[in-house]
Amino acid sequence: MPEYAFIGRSNVGKSSLINMLCLHGGLAKTSATPGKTRLINHYKINETWYLVDLPGYGYAKVSKSRRKDFDKTLFHYLGKRENLYCVFVLIDSRIPPQANDMEFLARLGEMQIPFTIVFTKTDKVTQKQLSDHTRAFKNEMLNSWEELPPCFYASSPTRLGREEILEFIEKTIKQDG
Ligand code: GTP
Ligand code: MG
Repeated sequence: MPEYAFIGRSNVGKSSLINMLCLHGGLAKTSATPGKTRLINHYKINETWYLVDLPGYGYAKVSKSRRKDFDKTLFHYLGKRENLYCVFVLIDSRIPPQANDMEFLARLGEMQIPFTIVFTKTDKVTQKQLSDHTRAFKNEMLNSWEELPPCFYASSPTRLGREEILEFIEKTIKQDG
């Protein structure tokens, strides 16, 4: 079955977005403490596809060796998974472009893994901040990428982006089948 994985820096809102997409508050564990998701969690959706919650990257408070372990597991998963249709990379819309996000995208590019961007927590910023931060992020990407991937704007409390993301998933499953 096709798999769609969700990833981003720790605390970016992955688990919240997954719960919002599934309309299931307690499916993926959320927390104000970064580093909550430590396993690769698969959720089967409508007997058609798997939604995959990946542990966050760039969480400074775990030991170096733990972090190395996470990275190894993560890139092993990303590299070996033939049914991984797309990775949704979550980016916090409240902050300017971050080096570790750009590095992660570069690694996805090297591995030729299709991805999209989801700007999260859009309910927490003003329209101006949102457009400044997302524009800066896209400009930063265009320094090393020829074109931009599909970009979504999301908020877990308001469910912004839900339909667009689910439509994208449905469309890409159909294209393949
Ligand atoms: P780890 O698994 O620890 O890497 O974190 P995560 O990326 O899964 O983040 P999680 O969904 O646990 O959310 C972290 C915090 O941000 C929680 O306090 C959430 O309630 C909050 N949060 C997540 N998404 C949103 C959003 O769209 N809007 C607002 N206002 N808060 C959000
Ligand atoms: Mg999580």
